[in-house]
Amino acid sequence: MVKTLAVIGIGLIGGSFARALRAVGSVEHIIGIDTDPVNLAQALALKVIDQSAASLAEGVAQADLVFIAVPVHSISTVVAAIAPFLKPGAVVTDGGSVKDEVVKACEPLMPAGTSFVGGHPIAGTEHSGVAASFAELFTDRRCILTPTSATDSGALKLVSDLWGAAGSRVEYMDTLSHDRVFAAVSHLPHMVAFSLVHAVNRSAEEEENILAFSAGGFRDFTRIASSDPVMWRDIALMNRSALLDMFDRYTLEFTALRERVAAGDAEWLEEFFTTSKRLRDSIATR
Ligand SMILES: NC(=O)c1ccc[n+]([C@@H]2O[C@H](COP(=O)([O-])OP(=O)(O)OC[C@H]3O[C@@H](n4cnc5c(N)ncnc54)[C@H](O)[C@@H]3O)[C@@H](O)[C@H]2O)c1
Repeated sequence: MVKTLAVIGIGLIGGSFARALRAVGSVEHIIGIDTDPVNLAQALALKVIDQSAASLAEGVAQADLVFIAVPVHSISTVVAAIAPFLKPGAVVTDGGSVKDEVVKACEPLMPAGTSFVGGHPIAGTEHSGVAASFAELFTDRRCILTPTSATDSGALKLVSDLWGAAGSRVEYMDTLSHDRVFAAVSHLPHMVAFSLVHAVNRSAEEEENILAFSAGGFRDFTRIASSDPVMWRDIALMNRSALLDMFDRYTLEFTALRERVAAGDAEWLEEFFTTSKRLRDSIATR
């Protein structure tokens, strides 16, 4: 489907996209570009890419498709830097976890005859870098594409087909709906996990050995707090408005819970937990 693919940011997501497309024979030649020379050398050694490029200009010059998988704050900077060097007809897409600000910033930067398609694979792990990438990451997972009125239909079809080839179920959303949904189901949970680790660590300063008991729930719940700090700094800042709204909703629920615990209201607590369990069970079986 694609002769030459350039992946900018050949980490967990970029590396997995490259591996998945190669596994199904949807790409002939893969060029990798990354600001981390150790990671780039590893991508070459692992044969995730066929060739590394020393500069963005060199990397994208021959590319039919460019996939950008760097932290969200850097995506539009990368698009601005590659725009003069794209070949006519080139399609640029991204895998960033925030869409409205990214798509609004990138679309106007695209030269005539080239196209941008915003995307976000709903798959990942708490690990980073090309060594953590694997071809099956996107199998049976959703990939959200966020076309706008400016999106070229041929470019959208190509990007949809490639995510389909990588094993994903493609769905379409507008950028703002995307950002509201993922503020709720992904970005807020990460903020809660990051802050819970801090709260427990502060208690550990008073209560020696507290972390020695951190089995089960605490470990499960805070797994996502091991995710990359730069990636999450960018997501928190670039999806700030939707995330602040979710912080407020969460604070209301958490404050109510705290009050009922303080009041010793067993009936209220049981009802609250019963509702949570019913909702959570219905997600788990879906
Ligand atoms: N990790 C996840 O669970 C997940 C899931 C869906 C989407 N995403 C999105 O995918 C993107 C990449 O995340 P990841 O988990 O693969 O991160 P990663 O850290 O594994 O990979 C990112 C790579 O980009 C490189 N890089 C950073 N800035 C660069 C620049 N300006 N130019 C070239 N290379 C640069 C880094 O050196 C790194 O190798 C982010 O936008 C993130 O929001 C991540």
